[in-house]
Amino acid sequence: MVEDVWSTVDDYFGQLLLGRDPVLDSALEANTAGGLPPIDVSPHQGKMLHLLARSIGARRILEVGTLGGYSTIWLARALPPDGRLITCEIDPKHAEVARSNLAEAGLAGVAEVRVGPAADTLAALDPTADGPFDLAFIDADKASNAVYFEQALRLSRPGSMIIVDNVVRNGRVADAGSDDPSVVGTRLLAEAVAREERVSATVIQTVGTKGYDGFLLALVH
Ligand code: SAH
Ligand code: DHB
Ligand code: MG
Repeated sequence: MVEDVWSTVDDYFGQLLLGRDPVLDSALEANTAGGLPPIDVSPHQGKMLHLLARSIGARRILEVGTLGGYSTIWLARALPPDGRLITCEIDPKHAEVARSNLAEAGLAGVAEVRVGPAADTLAALDPTADGPFDLAFIDADKASNAVYFEQALRLSRPGSMIIVDNVVRNGRVADAGSDDPSVVGTRLLAEAVAREERVSATVIQTVGTKGYDGFLLALVH
């Protein structure tokens, strides 16, 4: 199976480049124990987010879709001591596990979980008091991707980076006739980004332990 090769290669490079990380391991164990679905970003993807955040010197990070906070930990670890991360989660159970995982990771003072529909949480954020956010990571319900992107843009500044997870989903995004709300939402996102003059964007398709998917990366200019 080609998926086995993807995982084997992820593991090979993971042993060399990611090393052991008991904090992240125990966060994933807590997610499993709490019955959360295993739909976190992969370790390599988490480190990619971390490196991108560091490379742009991010001080404020916005996340949409917390789950158990696995990606949140990777991102929050990129922040300086006075940095701040706000992450939006609709499910109180997920938020509870995430808060516990963030506390165990020593990040409770840096990363704040806001519970509720992300569209409401984002609409209530102020671009100057809460932001501007240097990096936004969008990874919640895919049907609302265009809404989240618009809000992330409102809360950004020139130079901010906006990253959207799961834009490929085994290639289903290319099906113009799909009635899957996730596919429709992601296609609406792509069309909105294409029309948006304030950003320059690309999509990178990925394979690995989480299958075949991809990220959209947009730079605000
Ligand atoms: N970013 C996480 C994975 C997020 S999974 C990681 O990589 O570790 C997607 C999450 O989005 C789930 O926890 C789900 O409950 C949440 N979600 C779904 N719809 C939402 C909404 N309308 N508002 C906020 N969060 C939502
Ligand atoms: C799903 C959501 C995700 O954010 C992800 O990375 C993988 C799968 C899902 O809803 O199935
Ligand atoms: Mg995702």
